This record gives sequence, structure tokens and C-alpha cells, in this order.
Amino acid sequence: MNVQSFIFWAVAAEQAVAERTTLVDLREVEFAYGPIQVLFDVSFTVARGEILGLLGTNGAGKSTVLRVLAGLEVPTRGTVTFDGRDVTGLPAEKLCTSGVGLVVGGKAVFPDLTVLENLQLAGFTIRTGLDHRIGRELDRFPQLAKRLDTEAGSLSGGEQQQLALAKALLLDPTLLCIDELSLGLSPVIVSELFDVIRGVNAAGCTCVVVEQSLNVAAQLCGRAVFLEKGMVKFDGLTRDLLERGDLARAVFLGENGHRPAHRKRSPR
Ligand SMILES: Nc1ncnc2c1ncn2[C@@H]1O[C@H](COP(=O)(O)OP(=O)(O)OP(=O)(O)O)[C@@H](O)[C@H]1O
Ligand SMILES: [Mg+2]
Repeated sequence: MNVQSFIFWAVAAEQAVAERTTLVDLREVEFAYGPIQVLFDVSFTVARGEILGLLGTNGAGKSTVLRVLAGLEVPTRGTVTFDGRDVTGLPAEKLCTSGVGLVVGGKAVFPDLTVLENLQLAGFTIRTGLDHRIGRELDRFPQLAKRLDTEAGSLSGGEQQQLALAKALLLDPTLLCIDELSLGLSPVIVSELFDVIRGVNAAGCTCVVVEQSLNVAAQLCGRAVFLEKGMVKFDGLTRDLLERGDLARAVFLGENGHRPAHRKRSPR
């Protein structure tokens, strides 16, 4: 994507957010792992058609929010509305078939299975047309098409993230939640993956993207929600968050999706 088309996309994305209706509504969500509460009164909406950035300090609860959205965790209080329906407590498989896709951080592929086997397993609920959909994803990610029989664990980090995205996109999600896609990848690879997300978004898929770096998120997300210690501290335009020194300095401002040394992606 060149600079001009990026600017056009960014302006269009902001206008779209202003005009679009709500797809997801989290209201006063609280969540605890056993006795330890980690989300406190979390409320925000996701507009249909936007790419929302979910940012925050280490351990702030970003991944937990995605897990709640995808039905992998049930809030102890509060509600989750998706596409006008109260889906609080609905199990992940139901939400998945209703159109909620999740790319988990760090371990989104089965390393001992081949690329093709990963895709077939991801699409096992699709009764007809799975081969067609796999073909579509291989057109989207031509590098994967060349490595169909390679074990996913032998792929490069960027290829593994392509496969993770392909697995989620196979199911035609209405909402795609992505946890730390850029972690440990070079800026060039991150930029290619972001182009794919922009394309998917332009075709109608709403996205919630957890990113460690505010600068990286700003390349992709018109709007951002910032979490600290399980609470929402900011909800607004990403460019306004960049101006908020008090919050922005709490997150890593790197350009390339690399985390500080103690938070690198674990080897797979
Ligand atoms: N399975 C678990 N059991 C107990 N506590 C957990 C579990 N998973 C996460 N936590 C804790 O819940 C809090 C929120 O974790 P979460 O992973 O959602 O944060 P995060 O914002 O995604 O952090 P990071 O930037 O490190 O990915 C942290 O204090 C974490 O230690
Ligand atoms: Mg996390």
C-alpha cells in the first residue's frame, strides 16, 4: 500500500467509524481467574466495519477481553452483545459458528501438522465447499500454497501468522479478533500482514486487534481502547491516544512489533 492509498484508507476508516452501527457491545464486564479479578467494569463498543485496536500494558487484560469476546471465558458480571444479540456465556463453538473468529497470540497453529492439515482441521465444521475455501485462502497467501506439505512448526514466524490468519478467515468471520499478530516479526512482514487485514476489513469483516506497540497499532486502527490493570483508561481515535503522553508512554512505542527482551514470542 503506497502513502496516498494509506491516507485515503485511514480517512475513510475514520468516517466509517463515525457512521457505522454497533456490532459488539461490552457492558460493565468483569472477569476473574479463580479468586483473582482481572477485568473491572470494562465497557466499549466495536462499530460494524472498523478495525479497533486493543492496547495496554503487560497483563492489563487484553487477551482476556478477546477470550471473553470469543466465548472462551464467561464474564462474572456484565454483558456481551454481538450483532444485536446477547451472547454472554455462549460457548466458543456457538460464537464461532455465529461469526466470531479468534487468532490467539503465540500458538495459533498446530506445529506438528502440515499447512494443509492445519487448514483442514480449522475448517472441519464446514460441510460443503471446504476445498474451495482452502483454495481461496491459498490465493490470499501464495507463500502457503508452496508449503502445503510442510509442518507448520517449520514455517517462518511470518508464514505461521499467515497460516493462523488463513485458519480464521476460512470460517468467513463477521468479527475477527487477533491477538498480537506482529509480535517478533520484521516491519516488512508486519506490513504485508496488515495489508491482508485491511483487505479483509474492506470486504466487510470487523476487526479487533491487540497490539503491544501503539505506533504499530496506529498503522492499522482508526480507533483504540486502552486498558490498564483491567480497566478502560481511553476509548477514542488512535491519533488522540498518541497525544496522550500519560498513557502512551506506558506502552511500547517501537516501530516493528518487537517487544522488550523479556516478552518475545515463545519458540514453537
Ligand atoms: N489462565 C490464567 N490463570 C490465572 N491468571 C491469568 C491467566 N491468564 C492470564 N492471567 C492473568 O490475568 C491478567 C490479565 O492477563 P492477560 O493475558 O489478559 O493480559 P494481557 O494484557 O494480554 O497481557 P500481555 O501484554 O502480557 O499479553 C494478568 O495478571 C495475568 O497474569
Ligand atoms: Mg496478551
